[in-house]
Amino acid sequence: MRHAIQSLEESKIREVANAGMGRSDVLAFWFGESDEVTPEFIREAAIESLRKGETFYAHNLGLPELRDAIARYTTRLHGNVKSERIAVTSGGVNALMLAVQMLVDAGDEVVAVTPVWPNLTAQPLIMGAKLERVSLVPKEGAWTLDLQKLLDAITPATKLLVVNAPNNPTGWTLSREEQQTILDHCRKTGTWILADEVYERLYFEPSANACAPSFLDVASPDDRLVVCHSFSKSFLMTGWRLGWLVMPAAMTHHMGKLIEFNTSCASVFTQRAAQVAMERTDEVTPRIVAHLKACRDTLVPKLQAIPQVEVQPAKGGMYAFFKLSGFDDSLVVAKRLVAEAGLGLAPGNAFAPEAQGWLRWCFASKDKARLEEGVQRLKRWLA
Ligand SMILES: Cc1ncc(COP(=O)(O)O)c(C=O)c1O
Repeated sequence: MRHAIQSLEESKIREVANAGMGRSDVLAFWFGESDEVTPEFIREAAIESLRKGETFYAHNLGLPELRDAIARYTTRLHGNVKSERIAVTSGGVNALMLAVQMLVDAGDEVVAVTPVWPNLTAQPLIMGAKLERVSLVPKEGAWTLDLQKLLDAITPATKLLVVNAPNNPTGWTLSREEQQTILDHCRKTGTWILADEVYERLYFEPSANACAPSFLDVASPDDRLVVCHSFSKSFLMTGWRLGWLVMPAAMTHHMGKLIEFNTSCASVFTQRAAQVAMERTDEVTPRIVAHLKACRDTLVPKLQAIPQVEVQPAKGGMYAFFKLSGFDDSLVVAKRLVAEAGLGLAPGNAFAPEAQGWLRWCFASKDKARLEEGVQRLKRWLA
């Protein structure tokens, strides 16, 4: 077995969840998904597709109709993006892995902004890359970017920059000016940018297009930029395993080859559902975002009222990331919270060593009372 695989760390989020899954007395906020089922009209589109007998292989890059729908959706948010630049993938995580397989050779240098969802740092390691982490800096419960530190880390030897904003777990986002500066720098060093923007619509700051700033807003179509997206978060479709990539048009043909050797294609019935989701996004996403904002604004002030907790409201995403003082090992605390308080959170050190002592709470809860009950459990446990 390859050393790179043997030495991969197991997900600490899974480690905590495995300890509590199936226990009906545990309030679980450990995974990054809503507890709300996919809207019915999206499910109906999949059922209709299956009824029609669409049970066969599809094009490697996705159904042309879906790629067109994604191009229209992306163009509405970020200006002209043609369907030739789009590949449909079997989930956002598959999109990220494909991008890394496409861009990273063994021994290449990869820079990642952390803390970050562990899959993003594991994938370059799977390819045998050398990974350098550039940590965000915590300030009174919020994580901020030291832009100069990041620019200094990206040299002509850096093959790829991996950046996820809005960020899981911290809720940090990039400004347009920062994106422009990073892009200009990467143009000079010849570095590819892999921008994970799966949370772009889950954005709580004022904005013209109800969307976080995107590298697509500042880049040219031929820049060394690959953007990763998912149907999971903005359309409540985590279990459907669908995502997409936006890349320079010259890369798309090669991406089709790579998809052939990974998954061949995404299933047709899920793509039919995704097409309807995308075309009727206004019936889904704004409601999800408004609800998430209400969830955030329910949870965060209650956490802030606990003396041992340091937290700021996330600008985007679906997480409250908080420091719990008095406890050094997040994994130990998270496991104890499951066992002793019936509260399921993700340990901060799953996302970066520097987030040791932090915990992530996914606030995408259909019933806000669950969040309030969760806080009560945390308070009782701390007492
Ligand atoms: C930052 C980030 N990127 C990508 C994904 C991938 O999502 P999916 O594979 O469900 O599309 C996730 C899921 O939690 C995520 O948090």
